[in-house]
Amino acid sequence: MCGIVGYVGDRPALDIVVEGLARLEYRGYDSAGVAVLADGKLATAKRAGKLVNLRGALENDPLPDGTLGMGHTRWATHGPPNDRNAHPHTDCAGTVAVIHNGIIENFARLRAELDEGGHALDSDTDTEVVAHLLEDELPRAGGDLAEAMRRVCRRLEGAFTLVAVHADDPGLVVGARRNSPLVVGVGDGENFLASDVAAFIAHTRDAIELGQDQVVELRRDGVTVTDFDGRPAEIREYHVDWDVSAAEKGGYDYFMLKEIAEQPRAVADTLLGRIGADGRLVLDEMRLTDEQLREIDKIIIVACGTAYHAGLIAKYAIEHWAGLPCEVELASEFRYRDPILTRTTLVIAISQSGETMDTLMAVRHAREQHARVLAVCNVNGSTIPRECDGVLYTHAGPEVGVAATKTFLTQLVAVYLIALYLGQVRGTKWGDEVFAMIQLLERMPEKVEKVLETMEPVRELARSLADGHCVLFLGRHVGFPVALEGALKLKELAYMQAEGFAAGELKHGPIALIDKDLPVVVVVPPRARAVLHDKIVSNIQEIRARGARTIVIAEEGDASVEPYADTLIRVPAVPTLLQPLVTTVPLQVFACELATAKGHDVDQPRNLAKSVTVE
Ligand code: F6R
Repeated sequence: MCGIVGYVGDRPALDIVVEGLARLEYRGYDSAGVAVLADGKLATAKRAGKLVNLRGALENDPLPDGTLGMGHTRWATHGPPNDRNAHPHTDCAGTVAVIHNGIIENFARLRAELDEGGHALDSDTDTEVVAHLLEDELPRAGGDLAEAMRRVCRRLEGAFTLVAVHADDPGLVVGARRNSPLVVGVGDGENFLASDVAAFIAHTRDAIELGQDQVVELRRDGVTVTDFDGRPAEIREYHVDWDVSAAEKGGYDYFMLKEIAEQPRAVADTLLGRIGADGRLVLDEMRLTDEQLREIDKIIIVACGTAYHAGLIAKYAIEHWAGLPCEVELASEFRYRDPILTRTTLVIAISQSGETMDTLMAVRHAREQHARVLAVCNVNGSTIPRECDGVLYTHAGPEVGVAATKTFLTQLVAVYLIALYLGQVRGTKWGDEVFAMIQLLERMPEKVEKVLETMEPVRELARSLADGHCVLFLGRHVGFPVALEGALKLKELAYMQAEGFAAGELKHGPIALIDKDLPVVVVVPPRARAVLHDKIVSNIQEIRARGARTIVIAEEGDASVEPYADTLIRVPAVPTLLQPLVTTVPLQVFACELATAKGHDVDQPRNLAKSVTVE
């Protein structure tokens, strides 16, 4: 939520900053703004709306050239998304500029203090108080912006990444973070700051991970990191293992299309190196020992949105293969009840970004109760895995489209690996099945590829429904979370009413929604699970009897659904628990195409941001 870029070096800062913002726009696109220091003077420009508006403004009214600058793309929290509330914000003298991601919870009190002290604040944001607090602290800090930032940070409550520049020190960019992401890119005679490495990956793949409550000073020739009290902090460098092409559209109209197409590779990469030559799983990197895993007697999964749907599927896999009780909880609800956690509870936090505030807070709550916590995450070095006892990374590569696609499939692979690994180390009665599933997982990339090759009828169907108002999604067993995921994708991309139900619940209420021509998508389990399968075939008949239009997703060779399907979408036959890997893909394609047909930007749906760093 909110993208931040900072640059200091010997090249024109504005180009680098705006290019970085373009790569971070997925984090928020309510407004965009930049600041540069040139000839000892601060110059800013900002515009409501997407980055394109700011680019237009800069063309009409260019800023002076400077080699130090910063930029921001906003997801509005305090105050409507207009020019006035866009970042950067400046102090009274117009010499300090600040950009911010997060929420400063005590801003109202700080603002009242500043008002009393004679500061004239201009916006509705919480961010602006920081510019004015820095103005007050700078003289006390002897004009040292980093020291002023440390003093200010000690007074702030909430979550924040802050970046500030000061006209009196034209070679310095200062950043600070608490509970919000900020990484440093280390170049040759130039350095970068950003919410995500994607902003500077075209210039350097050497990065520094900033820890909690740290302040960084960035100059052309060096980087210094301290805590909020000024004590030097250890610098943790790492090398980013993907290159700039991974964060570009590569000929596709939308990132989302590219990311859907990348799924076979993402699934394969997430399996890579995790299956040993003897066919057993090797997950040493998880940082939890087999001994610790054998002690576990209960699992609780916490996650939000699409990751929560992956968690729901994980429950079926864990209970079956690992033989352990498993609960799944929305991360935003978890710490507000009294979950029963002990040292033998394993909490699994699933988060693509590793920054979702609700999930982070759930992780902290679990750790306070002494549970072991394992992260499933796609972003190396992000906050959630850093705060967990162990981590299993998904290797989907960067996901830029706001709607999760390839990261969902790789989260599924990761939770299957965890469930199977627990089954392997605990030696459950499903030993042979566990072994067989590991072999089958290796074949899933080709199955996903096969689904992708047959998507044209799904696209046609989506276009034909573009004028509709509502779609229902039904499933049973692991098909139920798939139905929820199909509905979520359609809501967020096409802004249509879309609901997912467990097919068995239909008769307990939702059937009242069904009327003539209402499209109902039904995810049919494999025939091998005869009880589940036959029940859902009856559900399809019930829906059809009420005039609805049935769109049936069923495995190849399943002839029993043919008489009741207005549209039949075929997927390869795979075991029930693995079926979400193939049944989700048509639903992603469906939502993407339908939203595109409605003229929506699927990469940047309204009101959303990819990384939700506020509660
Ligand atoms: C939906 C989507 C969101 C995220 C949710 C959690 O397409 O992307 O629902 O799944 O915000 O995000 P992470 O996984 O980053 O914690």
